Amino acid sequence: MDPMKETVAAPETILSGTRFVRACLCRPVDRTPVWFLRQAGRYMQEYRDVRKHHTLVEICKQPQLAAEVTITAAEKLGVDAAIIFADLLLPLEPMGLDFEFMAGEGPVVHRPLRTAEDVRALRTDRAGDLAYVARAIEKVAAHFRDRMGVIGFCGAPYTLASYMIEGGGSKNYIHTKQMMYRDTSSWRMLLDKIVLVLEQYCRLQVQAGADVIQIFDSWVGSLGLADYRDYALEATKCLVRSVQQLGVPVIYFGVETAGLLGDMASTGADVIGLDWRQPLDEGWRAVGPHHAVQGNLDPITLFAPVEVLELRVKEILQAANGRPGHIFNLGHGIVPGTPVENVQAVVRMVKEFRLETSNG
Ligand code: CP3
Repeated sequence: MDPMKETVAAPETILSGTRFVRACLCRPVDRTPVWFLRQAGRYMQEYRDVRKHHTLVEICKQPQLAAEVTITAAEKLGVDAAIIFADLLLPLEPMGLDFEFMAGEGPVVHRPLRTAEDVRALRTDRAGDLAYVARAIEKVAAHFRDRMGVIGFCGAPYTLASYMIEGGGSKNYIHTKQMMYRDTSSWRMLLDKIVLVLEQYCRLQVQAGADVIQIFDSWVGSLGLADYRDYALEATKCLVRSVQQLGVPVIYFGVETAGLLGDMASTGADVIGLDWRQPLDEGWRAVGPHHAVQGNLDPITLFAPVEVLELRVKEILQAANGRPGHIFNLGHGIVPGTPVENVQAVVRMVKEFRLETSNG
């Protein structure tokens, strides 16, 4: 391990497909890789056109469509990684929970889990039904070869459990925390079952060509540190380890996690996703020097005048200070109505940024 040697490698020896993976592993790169959470979505006309003819779940289940949506967004933006078009909730169906996306409301699970019996009834033997996601990944990987990193993903045990129990989004996670505190054995059984299914699901994705797996713990910020440690950390660690054993790096992402970052890093994930509420260097200090970080522009800054946007992008890159192991991204997903040209402008800014000239 001699990082200095690798920094002087000619840029053409550092293939763009591996730039992103190298950064995940804290290896030096020719420039900071960049991609965006929710880069294929309603802010983009091309996606809205596909959505006119298909529901979200239809797109996910038709590998040709899912691959097209993934590829179109990544190429239009010129990013370094393509995240497969899918949804966090897809594994609920093979586990026996039906859900749908209601316009304007987000996901709704028809019969949310509330009792020990509900948890016992969940199936763990049908992860193979999710093979349509793997077929889509194969198509994306074949299209990009080594030009672009391909990211597979799944939800984290806590976040998926919260959807299953609440039946949708939630403000206070009362049902979730009630099961966690009052019926801890069912809670643990639920997390174990989720991990079992996700391990199989991630294996399908990696075998299909995913270079990296991102684990979304979008709502983990609803937990205090003690509850995170007592009720979520172990299951997450298990999942992270199993995915790493498949031979790919893991990005572990959450929102409003400033107080949890050190413990999130203790899962062993290669990369920790940071939200925007903390400067990147502070977040990185909390994560520790042996992990890469991903982030952390406020997605709503994409609505700002380009001068403000540029200032914030440069602040993040300066806070990273050229240290190996930074992947530029947002602190959470792109929202509908975001000007596409501003997303493209951020890609240009990251690609053109040079640390030594940035002060002058
Ligand atoms: O490029 C990409 O990132 C798109 C692929 C993707 C989707 N969902 C498609 C989608 C990814 C990575 C997800 C993950 C996901 N899904 C998460 C974790 C990411 C995060 O934001 O923290 C979560 C929490 C979900 C569950 C989910 N799916 C919600 C809460 C919603 C409704 C959001 C809203 O604004 O209405 C969805 C729907 C969804 N999934 C959309 C997309 C593009 C938008 C709705 C649509 O096209 O009809």
